[in-house]
Amino acid sequence: MSNFDVADMDEWVALPGGDEVATNQVLYNLMHRGIEWDLIPWSRERQIPIMAYSPVAHETDEQKRMFTDPTIKSIATEHDATPAQIALAWVLREPDLIAIPKASRPEHIRQNRAVLDIKLTDDDLEKLDKTFPPPKQKIPLEML
Ligand SMILES: NC(=O)c1ccc[n+]([C@@H]2O[C@H](COP(=O)([O-])OP(=O)(O)OC[C@H]3O[C@@H](n4cnc5c(N)ncnc54)[C@H](OP(=O)(O)O)[C@@H]3O)[C@@H](O)[C@H]2O)c1
Repeated sequence: MSNFDVADMDEWVALPGGDEVATNQVLYNLMHRGIEWDLIPWSRERQIPIMAYSPVAHETDEQKRMFTDPTIKSIATEHDATPAQIALAWVLREPDLIAIPKASRPEHIRQNRAVLDIKLTDDDLEKLDKTFPPPKQKIPLEML
């Protein structure tokens, strides 16, 4: 599936064969955390992984803001990584979160692969939560 919010998923899994869904591809990154309110818990309960598109933000001003953010930059320095790698490591912090960053430059592809070796600490995650807070209420599914 793609861009299915909880109500859509409820409807889908009620259909014959609907429980065979492999994943739900949705917008998810540090700047768009709405799915943590309900879609991630709903999916986790049913062991359906979430596939995050634009995990390092889309190629816009938003991505520039993400890559120059002081919190991300300081965590990146601690891990000898780039801000993009930290943003991607954050999405991949749980085993049921899949990420599909588009990358055309070989150096980006190598860096994205190397993210699998980055383990963010609880302290890193707390700092990121302060700068990019998780949702405090239901947010209708955001999409590109
Ligand atoms: N289901 C949907 O509705 C939906 C919506 C949007 C996207 N998607 C899919 O999601 C996938 C990913 O899309 P996207 O939004 O990530 O694409 P995007 O915003 O078009 O491209 C990602 C950008 O991030 C850059 N990047 C990647 N890795 C990087 C790194 N390590 N350091 C710095 N920059 C890095 C890329 O640079 P370079 O290319 O220069 O390497 C590119 O400019 C695609 O397959 C797309 O089709 C699905």
